[in-house]
Amino acid sequence: MHSLFTLLILSSLIVPITHACRITSQWDIFVMSNITDNIVVHIKSGDDDLGNHTIPFNGNYQWSFCDNYFGRTLFYGYFWWGSKYQSLALFDDEIRGPCYRSKGGTQHCYWLVRPDGFFVSGYNRTFSDTNWTFKKHWV
Ligand SMILES: *[C@@H]1O[C@H](CO)[C@@H](O)[C@H](O)[C@H]1NC(C)=O
Ligand SMILES: *[C@@H]1O[C@H](CO)[C@@H](O)[C@H](O)[C@H]1NC(C)=O
Ligand SMILES: *[C@@H]1O[C@H](CO)[C@@H](O)[C@H](O)[C@H]1NC(C)=O
Ligand SMILES: *[C@@H]1O[C@H](CO)[C@@H](O)[C@H](O)[C@H]1NC(C)=O
Repeated sequence: MHSLFTLLILSSLIVPITHACRITSQWDIFVMSNITDNIVVHIKSGDDDLGNHTIPFNGNYQWSFCDNYFGRTLFYGYFWWGSKYQSLALFDDEIRGPCYRSKGGTQHCYWLVRPDGFFVSGYNRTFSDTNWTFKKHWV
């Protein structure tokens, strides 16, 4: 009884990975930039503020987490590219779908940031591959 209670408490937190996830999947999220200037992204969830990160052309920023047992994990990204700006969910229930591959093992989600907007895929492919879902333009 006590251990079940502890498990439920632990699994409801979104914790950065220090060991394998217990009952939920580990997610590795990659934010890759194909913009020839540096861009800045501020990533945060309700529990975690990952801070500001500069991503150069062809660079990427990556982080990992254990999914929330109740499926409520949410990470938001706030992006700056010169005078342009955009914010969007980098991980939530809607993103989990296209990125989710198979039960067990680590899940991967790739974001590709381009001058024409933000695209997501469960696979790191070239852009000419159609397997990218467009999400938002820059504003
Ligand atoms: C993050 O970077 C943006 C854009 O450069 C800046 O406006 C913002 O103040 C920065 N935030 C922090 C916490 O450094
Ligand atoms: C994605 O694929 C490209 C081309 O193979 C590779 O250069 C890059 O390192 C990969 N990015 C990640 C985050 O795995
Ligand atoms: C990034 O941009 C370069 C030049 O436009 C292009 O050759 C390359 O395929 C792009 N990479 C991705 C992952 O879209
Ligand atoms: C992306 O590719 C995977 C594997 O090839 C496939 O299962 C999936 O349906 C594709 N998704 C889209 C949107 O094309």
